[in-house]
Amino acid sequence: MRKKLLLGNWKMNKTVGEAKAFALACRSIVEFAGEHGVLVGVAPTYLGLQTVKENADKHLIVAAQNVHFEDKGAYTGEVSVPMLKDIGVSWVIVGHSERRTYDNETNEKCNKKIVKLVHEEMTPVYCVGETLEQFEKGLTKKVVEKQLRVGLQSLCEKCIDKVVIAYEPVWSIGTGKNASKEIAQDVCAFIRGIVREMYGEGAERMLILYGGSVKPENIKAYLTSPDIDGALVGGASLQIDSYRAMVENLIG
Ligand code: PGA
Repeated sequence: MRKKLLLGNWKMNKTVGEAKAFALACRSIVEFAGEHGVLVGVAPTYLGLQTVKENADKHLIVAAQNVHFEDKGAYTGEVSVPMLKDIGVSWVIVGHSERRTYDNETNEKCNKKIVKLVHEEMTPVYCVGETLEQFEKGLTKKVVEKQLRVGLQSLCEKCIDKVVIAYEPVWSIGTGKNASKEIAQDVCAFIRGIVREMYGEGAERMLILYGGSVKPENIKAYLTSPDIDGALVGGASLQIDSYRAMVENLIG
């Protein structure tokens, strides 16, 4: 059976001090989630990663929001896999729509990062999803299929279940406009089907998350859909109270 996962994406929020306070405050939440077999994590900024690692319960998943595919070199402003490994970070969000929009993150670039991460036995959380215009033109599955076929190429059958996919319709991120649970389930099932075509049965073990305006009031509906294994949450993951409420509602 696939586990459930709640992953908070803090984006460009929280100073190191604020990240530390959250890490300490969420210890009991991590423990509670663990007792129910639920995985929980957060993705702080690069600056906050080490502090969160050092102050949180050791079972809290700590993810970076990006990584470079080269180990080192003349890449001003970048951070590499060995640097993340050195501080015990083994999860990385790849291809978030904000990075696709503002930082020219292409499917090809995402693929290089995913191949590198899987090779290093780390866990990429690969974000896919369509824009509002694409949604309105009925292009969702076409766009998502391309993102998957390019982003996930050159992996091995055995390691495909090390990849996590997050379906995040761009029009629902930070807008309060959720995809209905029917749409989310339909696209997540489609994603599993494409990955099954590409890599076989490992797709059944792979976690697929929904993201886009998830909050305590709606998390349960998504998480009871058969192909949605968790949520990638921005805004509602920033405050400890709503983070706790999401874990409680997901379990209860
Ligand atoms: P949101 O962001 O929950 O604030 O919509 C989700 C995301 O960007 O991962």
